[in-house]
Amino acid sequence: MSDLVIRGAHVLDPAAGLDGKMDVRVSEGRIAEAGDNLRGTRELDAGGLHLFPGFVDVHAHWRTPGREDEETIESGSAAAAAGGFTSVVMMPNTDPVVDRPVIVEGLVRRVERESRVRSYVSAALHAGLRGERLTEMRLLKEAGAFCVSDDGLGTASAAVLRNGMLYARSAGLPVILHCEDHTLSTGVVHDGAAAALAGVPGIPASAEDVATATALVLAAETGARVHITHVSTALSAAFVGFFRDRGDITADTTPHHLTLTDELVGTLEGMYRVNPPLRPDGDRRGVREALVDRTLDFVATDHAPHAAEEKELPLEEAAPGFLGHETAFAALYTELVRRGKLSLPRLVEAMSCAPGAWINGTGTISVGAPADLALVDLAGEWTVSGETLRSRSGNSPYLGRRLTGRVVGTVVGGDLVHDEIGARFGVRA
Ligand code: DOR
Repeated sequence: MSDLVIRGAHVLDPAAGLDGKMDVRVSEGRIAEAGDNLRGTRELDAGGLHLFPGFVDVHAHWRTPGREDEETIESGSAAAAAGGFTSVVMMPNTDPVVDRPVIVEGLVRRVERESRVRSYVSAALHAGLRGERLTEMRLLKEAGAFCVSDDGLGTASAAVLRNGMLYARSAGLPVILHCEDHTLSTGVVHDGAAAALAGVPGIPASAEDVATATALVLAAETGARVHITHVSTALSAAFVGFFRDRGDITADTTPHHLTLTDELVGTLEGMYRVNPPLRPDGDRRGVREALVDRTLDFVATDHAPHAAEEKELPLEEAAPGFLGHETAFAALYTELVRRGKLSLPRLVEAMSCAPGAWINGTGTISVGAPADLALVDLAGEWTVSGETLRSRSGNSPYLGRRLTGRVVGTVVGGDLVHDEIGARFGVRA
């Protein structure tokens, strides 16, 4: 039986308590052992590299079905693999919306054939994402849905959301919530000094905070498994802190809310429109501190590809959203870890261990776990460029930026799905 030894990397996995130079042996798609001087039929010289559990992204838009000009399962999963991600949840705001079992079944079949990474289908919480009629969650689960979400939209009525949580709970499905009160969010960027200076209509922070508070109260009351995604304000993070032990509640924030601020609104470029919007530095700091102290469990990218003709427009007309998979680790490593604001172990926990435990029991290099791994050159510098991104779209807010930390290899179930390290392989005679 062929097995692979990844030799001499600095292995870092807070979940398994691993932090040091060692070998890792992979056999039959799983971690077989970690230690010194291991032997395998195939060997990968990983000297000078770091080996982390593969990153896990609970929030991605692969635009399939319907907008394959922006992303496909093949291109989205190639982008994910290039960013070190080994498991991804696909959001249902597609065309058609993923709100019927037949659509879930079709997607599940397609990801088996077309995805390089483990891909999970989120079905919609409401038919057509309209926040009125609940979807048939039991049937969606039978068809292969992993969770339900109306991501992209908030839920208009607290009563409807409460019913949705009760039904999701009885169907055994987690709910991923985009918290936004649309009666408050009539603008396009964060309602603050930058919006006023730019003369662009603002969305108050309360649009997120009011909806987050409602969702948390209902999650605690119903006992549903609720994950609040893309928390972007300090107050919403504090609300999560108050409620997280009062229910089955988790939360994430994004690389862009951790690294960018609404100062970028001053460029007037549609590129910097995103939902929830980029916030002032106080919120960025509050969200970061909540990630550091584990009030927020993990990071998710909200990878949201958009066609150039829908993004390269004035702020008011541009579609909201950023690419995320390929820059997530490097942006966070460059901006937070290297500046001493987040430890490397906490970053690995937030990108791998915690979301992996939440989704599928991956996110660890412990013996017996699936061999889902990211090999990273922490000293590797690179410039983010539309030419080299694997996504079909080019809307990265980091375009032109020099980042440190380069994913050079990604392994899913023992197979190399992103490979910048081919030359390091050797076969033992
Ligand atoms: O900026 C965003 N883009 N936020 C969302 O919630 C949805 C996403 C998209 O689908 O483009």
